[in-house]
Amino acid sequence: MNNFLQTPKISVVAPQKLKRNSTTHFMYVVPVNYDEIRNNIQEFGLLTPLLVNLDYEIISGNLRHQIAIDLGLKEVPVVFIDAPEDMKAILSVSTNKFRVKSIVEIASEIRFYEEYYSVGRGTRTDLNPQVKVMKEEKDSAFNSIGQYKVNKVKSIEKKVVQLHGKNIEKINKEFSRVDRDEITLNELDKRLDRELLKLNNKSVIPKNYEFITEKVKIYNSSCGDLYHLEDESIQTIITSPPYFQMRNYGTGKKQLGLEKEVMDFINNLCDLFEDSKRVLKNDGSLFVNINDCVINGEYQSVPELFLIEMKRRRWKYVDQYLWLKTNAQFTPGNRSVRNFEPIFHFVKSDDYYFNDTWLTEFIDDNHSISMGTKKKYPKLVSGLDFRDNILTNASSNTLELRNKCKTDGNFLMEHSATYPLSLPLIFVLSTSKPGDKILDMFNGTASTGEVSVLTNRDYVGYELNPQFIMASKVRLEGYELGQVA
Ligand SMILES: C[S@@+](CC[C@H](N)C(=O)[O-])C[C@H]1O[C@@H](n2cnc3c(N)ncnc32)[C@H](O)[C@@H]1O
Repeated sequence: MNNFLQTPKISVVAPQKLKRNSTTHFMYVVPVNYDEIRNNIQEFGLLTPLLVNLDYEIISGNLRHQIAIDLGLKEVPVVFIDAPEDMKAILSVSTNKFRVKSIVEIASEIRFYEEYYSVGRGTRTDLNPQVKVMKEEKDSAFNSIGQYKVNKVKSIEKKVVQLHGKNIEKINKEFSRVDRDEITLNELDKRLDRELLKLNNKSVIPKNYEFITEKVKIYNSSCGDLYHLEDESIQTIITSPPYFQMRNYGTGKKQLGLEKEVMDFINNLCDLFEDSKRVLKNDGSLFVNINDCVINGEYQSVPELFLIEMKRRRWKYVDQYLWLKTNAQFTPGNRSVRNFEPIFHFVKSDDYYFNDTWLTEFIDDNHSISMGTKKKYPKLVSGLDFRDNILTNASSNTLELRNKCKTDGNFLMEHSATYPLSLPLIFVLSTSKPGDKILDMFNGTASTGEVSVLTNRDYVGYELNPQFIMASKVRLEGYELGQVA
C-alpha cells in the first residue's frame, strides 16, 4: 500500500472541489464522538490532511470533509496520491482499519472485503501483485476484527439473507440491535437458527400426523370424542389441559383456553371430559393438572370452579395433590408468588384401584414423597416437588426434547408447557398395573406416554397440533413400541 504514498506532499484545496468517497460513504455511520471531532476542527482547524486521488475523490476523510463544509472552511489540507482505479476502493477501506467500529460497520467492512476479494479469487497471488495486495489487506483487516467475530458476523448475515433475502436494511437492523446492547452476537445467531428451523417446520410438518404403534397410539384429533377407544378400556387418565388465557398452541381460534369468560372455559373443559367417563374403567382414575391466573387484579378461581363443575357432573373427587414448584413464575401485584399448581384426582366409583406399596421399594430417606415408617407403611404425601429429581431426572424434559427434535427431526419444537416425568410416573405407579392402558387427553409431547412405556403400560394420546405429535414420536422412538402401523 505504502508505495502510493512515497513522497507525501501536502496541498490545500477548497472542500467544494473534492468528491465524497462512494465506497466508504455508505459503509460507516456517523461516529458517537462526532461533536468532539467537529469542535476540535472548529477550534484548531483541520490538522490531518485528507487522502485524495488525482481526480479529487476522497480516499480517506469523508467525515472531516463533511465537517469542513458544514463549518464553512475555505480550504482543507490534502495529500494527493495516484491510486490505480481498481485499488481505490480497497485503499479507502483499509485507511479506516483502525477506527473504532460498530457491528453494523464491521459487517459492512467484511462484506466489502469478501465481495472485493472474490473478484480476484482463484488468481495466483504470486503472479498478480494487485490480488496479493487485496488478500493481504483482507487478512490484515480480518485479523484486527478477530477471526471469531468475522465468522460469527458472516454466519449471522447468511442466516438473515436466508430468512429475508439480500435486504441490507434488514441486515443492518439486526446488527444494530447488537450495537444497542439489546442482544449479543451469539444470542442473535441462536435466535436466527431457531427462526430458520421454524421456517423449516412448514415443509417438514404435515397438516395431519398420527403416531400409531402396537403399544402407543397418538391421534391427531380432539379429545372431545374418544371414538377410537372402547368403553371401559382405560385404567388411568393423566392430563394437563391448556390453562385459561395462558398460551396459544397454534391450533386456531376454537382451541381450549382462549375463551373470554372463565365459565365458558370451565364448561368447555368439562364437556371434553364427558366422553372420558365412558372409556375409563370402573376402578380407574382421572388426574387433572390445572392452574389459576390473575386477571384485572384478581384470581379467576379456575381450579375451584372446575372442581365444583366436575363434581356437579358426577365425578367423585377423592384427592388433591400440589405440584410444588421451585421455579415458580413471578406472580405480579401485591400478592405472594404462587409456587404450586393443583392436581385433582377423580374416580367413577369408590372401588377405585390405588396401590402405593411401590413406595416400599423406593429409597426416600428425606421423605420427599412419602411419610410413615420407612420400609413398612410409607404413604404418598400430597405436596410434591416433581422436579426435584424424584424417581427420574426430569427437570429438563422440554429442553432435551427440543434439541432432539432439531437433530433427529429437523424441526423446531415449540411446546414449552411439558410437565416433569415424575408427575405422571407417581400416578401411573399408584393407580395402574403393567399391561394396563393409560390415556392423556391433552397429549402435548407425550410425557405421559414416555412414562407409560417406561413402566410397561400401553398408551393412548389425543392432540390437535401435529407438530407436538411429531415431537412425541421423537421422544418415544428409542423405546420398544411393537410394530409401527
Ligand atoms: C399443557 S399442554 C400438555 C402438555 C403435556 N402434558 C406434556 O408434558 O407435553 C396441552 C396440550 O393440549 C393440546 N390440546 C388443546 N386442545 C385440545 C383438544 N381439544 N384435544 C386434544 N388436545 C388438545 C394442546 O395443543 C397442547 O399441546
